[in-house]
Amino acid sequence: MRNWALPENEGGKRSMKKATIVTTAGRHPRENHGIVNPPVYHASTVLYPSMAAHDKAEGAPFESVNYGRIGTPTTWAFEEAVAALEGGYRTVSLASGLNALTTAVLAFVKSGDHILVSDSVYGPLRRFCDEILARFGVETGYFDPLIGGGIARMLRQNTRLVATESPGSLSFEVQDIPAIAAAAHDAGALVMIDNTWSGGLYFQPFAHGVDISVQAATKYIVGHSDSMLGAVTAAREELWRPVKETAVKLGLCAGPDDCYLGLRGMRTLAVRLARHQENGLKLARWLQARPEVARVVHPALPQDPGHRLWQRDFTGASGLFAALLKPYPKPAVDALIDSLELFGLGYSWGGYESLIVPAHPERLRTAVPWQADGPYLRFHAGLEDSSDQIADLERGFAALAKAA
Ligand SMILES: Cc1ncc(COP(=O)(O)O)c(C=O)c1O
Repeated sequence: MRNWALPENEGGKRSMKKATIVTTAGRHPRENHGIVNPPVYHASTVLYPSMAAHDKAEGAPFESVNYGRIGTPTTWAFEEAVAALEGGYRTVSLASGLNALTTAVLAFVKSGDHILVSDSVYGPLRRFCDEILARFGVETGYFDPLIGGGIARMLRQNTRLVATESPGSLSFEVQDIPAIAAAAHDAGALVMIDNTWSGGLYFQPFAHGVDISVQAATKYIVGHSDSMLGAVTAAREELWRPVKETAVKLGLCAGPDDCYLGLRGMRTLAVRLARHQENGLKLARWLQARPEVARVVHPALPQDPGHRLWQRDFTGASGLFAALLKPYPKPAVDALIDSLELFGLGYSWGGYESLIVPAHPERLRTAVPWQADGPYLRFHAGLEDSSDQIADLERGFAALAKAA
């Protein structure tokens, strides 16, 4: 009898392929009248049938439905699916990707602790560390994303956590996660990764030594630019519990409709990401051949400095990458962007649509300077036909030439 349910899926213990996991995990049709998708429970109050049931629930508040904020079957279905996708023990869902990153860090630090954060992490995580964690006596040090095992030199007795992101936000350096994890574990520190770029499909965090994997599910998991959602997945029970308890103590939770949209997005994640990858690579190769472009920054290109590590550790690439233009004045670059019809100008990524945005990694860096001799543009290759995407960029380069 088919029932795509826990416990078989839990922890990714089954040897199913990723494309199968994303279409089956978190589904319990037999518990829902045979209906394919789990229902959306909108809940605050949960009524107990008796005092005995009330008292029993008090002893294990996370294991049954007690209150909307703690979780409902909709929340759990989403969390179960993400845990299976990431290959971890269990997931905590949160209201955004940033919320997931900050909750994951908060769960493991106390006053007097030190954490190490890659210079290439998502900018708002740095702001949280520098402006909020610092107020509570947690010190943050930033490290070169390419440090690899050299991180051993920066680890202190009080280093509790090493925060990574691979490839890096905006700058796309591929990190040697197994080397970082080995050094961190030797020093008794935990390793967290922002795994959003891979969608959980193309990088297996726990197989590479990571303890906590975070995704901005807002991006590829939701996949349609219509919801904010985050997910923290832990390798083991003893790492999952502090994250869940921190979220509960802070009153954080993801909304039921967002969890549903996350689950719904997950069903097509494998096919969407394959197309994002294909379109991204076509665009990257096309951009490489353009005379206006100095360098394309995409780990799946053999010329990319991160290519060797990407090839070793990843099984694919998403649609997010960047290109460094030759030196052009700002008005010319503005004309390029303003002339585009398919590529929207906006933040975030991971939806079905193509995006372009000027990026400034140099404004964030403190460990190692990031240098660009020209305008730097981040691209998200959407699901449109790539010949239309290229025609749109051709229009952009014509506008650039005219305004230069
Ligand atoms: C790599 C990465 N992590 C986390 C986030 C934060 O996600 P959210 O926008 O859902 O808070 C983003 C958003 O752009 C991101 O690019």
